Amino acid sequence: MTEPTVYRQGWTLDDVAWSKFDRSKASPQMVAAIKAASLVELNAPDYVSYLKKVFRDAGPETLAAIEQWGCEESQHGRALGRWAELADPDFKVDEAFARFRAGYKPEHFASEDTTSIRGSRRGEMIARCVVESGTSSYYTAIKDATEEPVLKEIAGRIAADEYRHYKLFFETLKAQDEPDLPLWRKAMVAVGRITESDDDELAYAYYCANVRPAETARLPYQRAYYAKVAAGLLNRIYRPSHVHKLVQMVAMSIGLKPQGRIVRFGAKLVWQMLRIRAGAGDPGPAPLAA
Ligand SMILES: [Fe+2]
Ligand SMILES: [Fe+2]
Repeated sequence: MTEPTVYRQGWTLDDVAWSKFDRSKASPQMVAAIKAASLVELNAPDYVSYLKKVFRDAGPETLAAIEQWGCEESQHGRALGRWAELADPDFKVDEAFARFRAGYKPEHFASEDTTSIRGSRRGEMIARCVVESGTSSYYTAIKDATEEPVLKEIAGRIAADEYRHYKLFFETLKAQDEPDLPLWRKAMVAVGRITESDDDELAYAYYCANVRPAETARLPYQRAYYAKVAAGLLNRIYRPSHVHKLVQMVAMSIGLKPQGRIVRFGAKLVWQMLRIRAGAGDPGPAPLAA
């Protein structure tokens, strides 16, 4: 039996075996999903600025860790973007990202407010743990789902980074001298962040990544439609084991036992919800301009 590859922190794009790329194994759905993911990852510098505002007096070590985290997320975007350009030579990641940035501007990124939109630093760290749980499980699911060797490698490298990011934010959460939040409050932050996954970010990234500039007048952005398409792709990639791990990681971040009954039940529930959404039917053709 071959040992699973262990990917360490600090890799660069030059470490990836790009020459092994095999276009015949890059499915159109996977290409569409990776294009959208590359834009979300490339947007990390805005999150870095926001987190540095929230943790402005947390000390140089925390601020340096936030910077390093942002550099790794941006690299994820560059690696995924390069792969998507190989898979679809018509795709131009810089052009798509410029459109995404021009149209996606959450209020809290521009605000001068130094308080987390989650109400506290602990809340902010729970929300970050939720995101890293999601990305860690998502890239693991991509690695397991794809037969394309370069994507398998990139997804494996990114999934390992995302797991380390989760640990970073989990440790930062525990290190806060703010009083611990009651369980219900922590659960609300986690559920709030999970449901935000349906917001504009992924839907608009999918649109900018997959609708060419020349097509945008004919195919205008319709949030509900593109959210459905993006969620359908995402949900088809997951398997029960990935969902179980995701729920365990989120549960740990709010102080629940990862092996408990609530987690087992939660994982089954989330899996069923994903199945229902994934099977909710073809979203149909993209809506045309009126
Ligand atoms: Fe990432
Ligand atoms: Fe991450």
